[in-house]
Amino acid sequence: MTALIRVDLDRVLGQVDRRMFGGFVEHLGRCIYGGIFDEGSPLSDSSGFRTDVLAALRTLQPPVVRWPGGNFVSGYRWTDGIGPRDARPRKIELAWGSEESNRFGTDEFIAYCRALGAEPHICINMGTGTLDEAQAWVEYCNGTGDTYWANRRRANGHAEPYAVRYWGLGNEMYGEWQIGGMSDHEYVAAARRYARIMLRTDPTIELVGCGQWGDTEWDRIVLEGLAELVRYHSIHIYTGSSDYLTNVLQPHQADRALRICEALIDQVRHTQRIRHPVGIAYDEWNVWYRTRTATGRAGGLEEQYDLSDALAVACFLNVFVRHCRSVAMANLAQMVNVIAPVFTRSDGLFLQTIYHPLRLYAEHTQAIALDPLVISRPLTPEGGIADLGPFQALDAVASRDADRRVVTIAVINRHPHDAIETSVELIGAVDQWSTGDVYELGGANPEDANSFAEPTRVAVRERSLDSTRTYSFPPHSLSILRLQR
Ligand code: AHR
Repeated sequence: MTALIRVDLDRVLGQVDRRMFGGFVEHLGRCIYGGIFDEGSPLSDSSGFRTDVLAALRTLQPPVVRWPGGNFVSGYRWTDGIGPRDARPRKIELAWGSEESNRFGTDEFIAYCRALGAEPHICINMGTGTLDEAQAWVEYCNGTGDTYWANRRRANGHAEPYAVRYWGLGNEMYGEWQIGGMSDHEYVAAARRYARIMLRTDPTIELVGCGQWGDTEWDRIVLEGLAELVRYHSIHIYTGSSDYLTNVLQPHQADRALRICEALIDQVRHTQRIRHPVGIAYDEWNVWYRTRTATGRAGGLEEQYDLSDALAVACFLNVFVRHCRSVAMANLAQMVNVIAPVFTRSDGLFLQTIYHPLRLYAEHTQAIALDPLVISRPLTPEGGIADLGPFQALDAVASRDADRRVVTIAVINRHPHDAIETSVELIGAVDQWSTGDVYELGGANPEDANSFAEPTRVAVRERSLDSTRTYSFPPHSLSILRLQR
């Protein structure tokens, strides 16, 4: 049977918010130190930023970067990380069992965001932190008056306010692993206090409430308690399995979480008559299953990704595009070394398999998401994900620009063995579609991976499309078709 992908240029899902291509960096293992920031390295610039890492991350075009955690933030005193670097205290780090030099702090983070062309998203410490500290952090970053913390920023060499727009109200505060974790009702009461004092300090900031997985009682209670004060409800998801089909299909959990979360938000906005939109910030997501128990001390969570993981990452991105009306932001966790697309050592880096879908989607996803019809053969995985189905082999999203000049179709063939011959139809295209290219990520085996020894074993192949409107999607592959008038 030939499969079918039919893209109607008028069947619009919504606008793609590019903040869904955001990133996240945490003081964990070698993400910051030895990752983005490596003082004294010949590969670093005068700010201590690794220039090779910066170049690799710039290509991913992250519009927003979340920092400093993650679990780390719930024991972090931000005031330890400002002022002359040599005078900053070296502290015990209790989230990951490490030590924190504090040589990378708020000013360094803002400088890094500027260098990357990204907006900062700061998550506050609601574990060991205080209302005073949170208030002071907003004032330090955004204060314009002749006040103590704004003047401390100026004294540290930053005359202009940083205008940090996004502020997260704590990280995973529901978890018993979280320093200072709390119950849902305790969190709502505390977060409301933090929200009010932060908004009084700068009413233009946009707060991110701490949700859980999108489908829990925690999410309902937090939304009911915080929706009037926040602009975003954050949820996290990590998936992964050594079983190929489970690995590539599990990201559909994100689909379900979004559907449920969207309904919760709708209900709260309706019952409380909330006028402002509340978007979903998927502010941690990734494939992560091999290195769950490593600690930060040894440079932990250094997952080595294979082709199947790259397909799972593409599947996540398809989910976000499909839910473009609710996904206002998403932050890949994390950006360098720690469960990350970029992997460094002192003399260079290589790009992990998951780097490639991230780059392809950032480069080719257009502003308007479409709702394609996809018909292909069913996939029936064994094991614990059947409740997420039914699944089919092809998973596709499509998008176009406002002028209808460019249409891109991102297609994942999750079938483990078979290529799938597919008829690709465009409806609503006024003129002939004259040129087309395809960017394909595939390989002989789903277990294929990159490494310092073989950095391009899994890489993108690029070629022109011929004029026929059928395409054979190789097994276990991602293909981005880019059609242009
Ligand atoms: O990204 C790694 C960890 O995963 C983060 O610190 C935490 O927020 C999540 O559990």
